[in-house]
Amino acid sequence: MTLPAPSATAASSALVIRRASAQDLAMVVGLRAALRREEQALAGAGLVPEESGGALRDLTRRQLADTSQGWFVATLGNEVCGILRCAIARRDGVARYGVLTTAYVSPACRQRGALRALVGAAADWAGARGVSDLRVRTNTGNATANAAWEALGFVPAQVIRRRVHP
Ligand SMILES: CC(C)(COP(=O)(O)OP(=O)(O)OC[C@H]1O[C@@H](n2cnc3c(N)ncnc32)[C@H](O)[C@@H]1OP(=O)(O)O)[C@@H](O)C(=O)NCCC(=O)NCCS
Repeated sequence: MTLPAPSATAASSALVIRRASAQDLAMVVGLRAALRREEQALAGAGLVPEESGGALRDLTRRQLADTSQGWFVATLGNEVCGILRCAIARRDGVARYGVLTTAYVSPACRQRGALRALVGAAADWAGARGVSDLRVRTNTGNATANAAWEALGFVPAQVIRRRVHP
């Protein structure tokens, strides 16, 4: 999937969406760490996993090697500027559904359709496996992400209620 990049600064390169490979590890880990930092600043304590550094790298290496997961990257030239993971959930008594995680687009690449294109690729990947129900968990404090998912047709379906004892 190749999309024209609308901004003048990106006129010489196009946004390309492709499956991630082990060679993308360093760039995917870098974007994933940035996602953790941004989400930790927006969400309350205890909502965003704390792994970073080596643990995040090991987790990502394992996930990229797992061909049962769909990992997608958006690239501009040689740079990976967006990432998205899709895993198929299998729960007794519930039809299989796709879980989207690790959605992140680097600030310079935002609002150019990268997330829309990544979700399109993940939807095609899941659809080829007979899965049309895609879900994503967002933090209520992340207004941008909620606006983006809403624009992409993802509507609230369940709410996690939380009470933390003092
Ligand atoms: C949320 C995020 C992934 C969106 O990525 P993006 O590439 O900028 O999104 P797109 O350009 O593909 O936009 C998809 C839709 O969301 C809307 N959207 C994107 N950013 C928006 C914003 N700041 N405010 C309102 N709507 C927005 C777009 O208008 C678009 O809808 P449209 O095509 O109907 O116009 C990106 O802002 C990001 O990485 N944020 C930090 C990390 C994060 O919050 N990740 C999500 C965790 S659940």
